[in-house]
Amino acid sequence: MPEKKKFYITTPIYYPSGNMHIGHTYTTVAADTMTRFKKLTGYDAYFLTGTDEHGQKIETKAAEAGVTPQQFVDKIVGETQELWKLMNIDYDDFIRTTQPRHEKIVQKIFRQFYEQGDIYKSEYEGMYCTPCESFWTPSQLVDKDGVKVCPDCGRPCQPMKEEAYFFRMSKYQDWLIDYIETHPDFIQPPSRANEMLNNFLKPGLQDLCVSRTSFKWGIPVDFDPKHVVYVWIDALSNYITALGYGTDHDEKFQKYWPANVHLVGKEIVRFHTIYWPIMLHALGLPLPKQVFGHGWLLFGNDKMSKSKSNIVYPAPIVERYGVDTLRYYLMREMPFGADGNYTNEALLTRMNADLVNDLGNLVSRTVAMIEKYFGGEVPAPGPADESDRTLIERFEALPALVEEQMDALQFSIALSEIWKLIGDCNRYIDINQPWVLCKSEKGLPRLKTVMYTLAECIRAVAVHIGPTMPSTPEKIFAQLGVTDPELKTWESVQKFGQLKPGTKVCKGEALFPRADIKKELAFLSGEPEEKPEAKPQKKQEKKVEKKAEVLAGVATFDDFVKIKLIAAKVIACEKVPNSEKLLKETLDVGNGQTRTVCSGIAKYYAPEEMVGKTVVLVANLAPRKMAGVLSEGMLLCAEDAEGKLKLLTVEDGIAPGSEIS
Ligand code: MSP
Repeated sequence: MPEKKKFYITTPIYYPSGNMHIGHTYTTVAADTMTRFKKLTGYDAYFLTGTDEHGQKIETKAAEAGVTPQQFVDKIVGETQELWKLMNIDYDDFIRTTQPRHEKIVQKIFRQFYEQGDIYKSEYEGMYCTPCESFWTPSQLVDKDGVKVCPDCGRPCQPMKEEAYFFRMSKYQDWLIDYIETHPDFIQPPSRANEMLNNFLKPGLQDLCVSRTSFKWGIPVDFDPKHVVYVWIDALSNYITALGYGTDHDEKFQKYWPANVHLVGKEIVRFHTIYWPIMLHALGLPLPKQVFGHGWLLFGNDKMSKSKSNIVYPAPIVERYGVDTLRYYLMREMPFGADGNYTNEALLTRMNADLVNDLGNLVSRTVAMIEKYFGGEVPAPGPADESDRTLIERFEALPALVEEQMDALQFSIALSEIWKLIGDCNRYIDINQPWVLCKSEKGLPRLKTVMYTLAECIRAVAVHIGPTMPSTPEKIFAQLGVTDPELKTWESVQKFGQLKPGTKVCKGEALFPRADIKKELAFLSGEPEEKPEAKPQKKQEKKVEKKAEVLAGVATFDDFVKIKLIAAKVIACEKVPNSEKLLKETLDVGNGQTRTVCSGIAKYYAPEEMVGKTVVLVANLAPRKMAGVLSEGMLLCAEDAEGKLKLLTVEDGIAPGSEIS
């Protein structure tokens, strides 16, 4: 047998400073989908992911949590691996930068750079962003209200000075410019190559600071142990240390390096297309064939990120709608490379339209018709007409179209090609009207052709969607009665007509549940599920607003004094994860005490607007969980003329905790 072609793909290694969210999931699902596609199409594909565990941020977070950095990362890494299991991520290796297999080789690489004169010792003075662990030059900082902030996360930078080792990047600058210009596929999409050339390389590369003395949580420089290796040399090396580079067992390195593609978010393209190629070149190693910088999943206009508290986590979505629904949405919704907004509404709409209506209905209708008209056995096809030939043409053209788009990492276009076949099948049913054909002897031969053609097309759809939606094909094969592994392969969908007549279909459960979008949106935004009596009560409230006199005499003074109202000052506020409506406020309620309260006002106030307001708190309500957060009270609001909620605030000089009566 000829040796299979190799394909090596990586994700960035993620910081385990907090739990992975839907943004990290996006890259990881893309890499997994690509790996599965390559395996399906006959490649020996190898998929590496992992975690980037060193650095000051982790050290600080661990200290805040009262645990060692190792204990801190171990917990999050465990949870990350659980999440990847839930997402059906089938990686070949998971590298952790705290593993000895990685640390030893990073020390060796660092020493080699020093010995060959690429690294020298000096002093660093600059503006440093602690959360991003990045030094920035003055020209890279961004001005925000007169403060110089980090261009990546928008937070203030501090001046910092320390003894440090530097990598002589400038030495390799001209070589790299030439390499990028003569290898147009190296940086994708091409706009990102222009950005690197024009913004970083052509203006002149600064030498890169590659060690730290100000914190300890890193790989010690073995010949100068008060330094630890700065995270980017440590992190980037993972792509080769995981393969055994620099050890006596470097078979995997020999086999898979250079990588075919590093998938990275656009904010780290710079590190992967400037520093990493220079490091590799200095080691005398070939460069990865491609670095693909994909866009961000946005939430509103912001990048979803741990630091902005606008995070969507995948687990609740997967539990409610299934892993393949989320995987499909992530790969289908936006072109890979561009930014796109994440919304629960788009997810649910796609699920209903593409998965329930188009795919799910096609499968259930076809299986039901084969059961009804042919006792559950796929008939041998009769004569073909124009409508069959058109569909068969699309069937046979599909693999090449999909392969072309997948090779360009255009997951959304590849899926839309598959969905064209699904759409054509649904139209084919409408054109041929099996329910009419079944009525006469004359229609029987055509009915056989139609049923066979549909079953065969559905089989091909199941094979094609497998890389993106790995748990759906088997459900479809079970309904179609396809058990032969040969009929689940890429080869088997190149040519129409492989399904054996006589195959016994078997009706199963609906592939995807149809969502009541309004109800599901309310659920996802953390509202309690609507109770039947809730509506009349709302109506009553409205009536009461209009006819205030109706209320006269309903509440006694004794009723009123049962409600404890106090002034409370908002000292912190953030959005509640997975809820579009809720804000979580931390309130100063006097006497050094604080309370947490959730309010459904996220549409009307940004979290930062809330901080500093003194508001009216209903302080003696029973605590209640909202979207997983325990809310200990309620803030009073009223609607303005446009129906927007406004908070009731109190005049200056009223201290938090003051009773309102
Ligand atoms: N540890 C570095 C990478 C080192 S690679 C040698 C790092 N880690 S990270 O935890 O911040 O993860 C960054 C990656 O997560 C991004 O490059 C991207 O792949 C993914 N994403 C994180 N948030 C994202 C979105 N909101 N949208 C899309 N991808 C995002 O940087």
